[in-house]
Amino acid sequence: MSTLRFLVTQQIPEPGPSILRDAGDVEIRSGMSAEELREAVTGGEYDVALSQTSDAFSAELLGEARIRGIANYGVGYNNIDVAAAAQHGIAVGNTPDVLDDATANLAVLLLLGAARRAHEASEFLRAARFEGLRPGLLVGQDVTGATLGIAGMGRIGKAVARRALGFGMTVQFTQRPPHDRVVSDEELGELAGHVTQVPWDELVATSDYLSLHVPLTEQTTHLVDADVLRRMKSTAVLVNTARGPVVDEKALVHALREGQIFAAGLDVFENEPAVEPGLLELPNAFLLPHIGSAEAGTRAGMARMAAENAVAMARGEKPPYPVEV
Ligand code: DGY
Repeated sequence: MSTLRFLVTQQIPEPGPSILRDAGDVEIRSGMSAEELREAVTGGEYDVALSQTSDAFSAELLGEARIRGIANYGVGYNNIDVAAAAQHGIAVGNTPDVLDDATANLAVLLLLGAARRAHEASEFLRAARFEGLRPGLLVGQDVTGATLGIAGMGRIGKAVARRALGFGMTVQFTQRPPHDRVVSDEELGELAGHVTQVPWDELVATSDYLSLHVPLTEQTTHLVDADVLRRMKSTAVLVNTARGPVVDEKALVHALREGQIFAAGLDVFENEPAVEPGLLELPNAFLLPHIGSAEAGTRAGMARMAAENAVAMARGEKPPYPVEV
């Protein structure tokens, strides 16, 4: 049997590299341009690409690609045209479940940080402007007793809901905005009876916090646009740990600037790594650089899953964590 060859598009933590090296030859080529990626996957040098969610695999690229599989290092796979991959016999895998808690933890961090003006307060302190306790200093929004709206009650949405209930919040959700699908108590599991399903329009208009947990699709691109932002409460906080293009970033800048909503906590951006310049200037935008899953154990778990996917694909076997079309 010939040696299996793996292309890894960014350095990943152990045990990923060791699992790959035990199975074949590994080339880690961090920082490839789109053109270099195209050359690498069409050149016939590699069996499998272990990719990042920022590596775009378009239908056109997949049509030319000479690889057996793409093992995406992440749960999201909107960077891959999975229908085209299936059509060309290229397997796709991802890393579900393992990052649910880490991402939910970050969503809560953003929610609290934006509500309590953490970024602004920290800047204030570092600028040596703190002159002592003042009743009116950096007052934020209440969390306990407030209503959290969750857009997308999948694994991460549920993990956020559990945490929010612990904070004494009321939790409502829309399963698949902008339209909906009724979710059974069985699907809700332990959350049944503790959370309420409402239509998207109601979720937007009545939530004090709106946290996004939908995959990026045609339907969810700019799900939160100028119209939605106008219908949110002026005291509301928007949290996005899903994908940047779910929010119209220009409209969000306008809404934050004009006080249409109170604040936003964002870990993802429309054109990463670029960030809409207006956002960077706003004190009510609490911004993090796509670190939702960046907990050490979580990242190691993702590396293991992605590497196991890659090895199985290279051997022509079904990956243990497949993305099914
Ligand atoms: C994911 O796993 O989808 C994270 O957003 C990292 O890309």
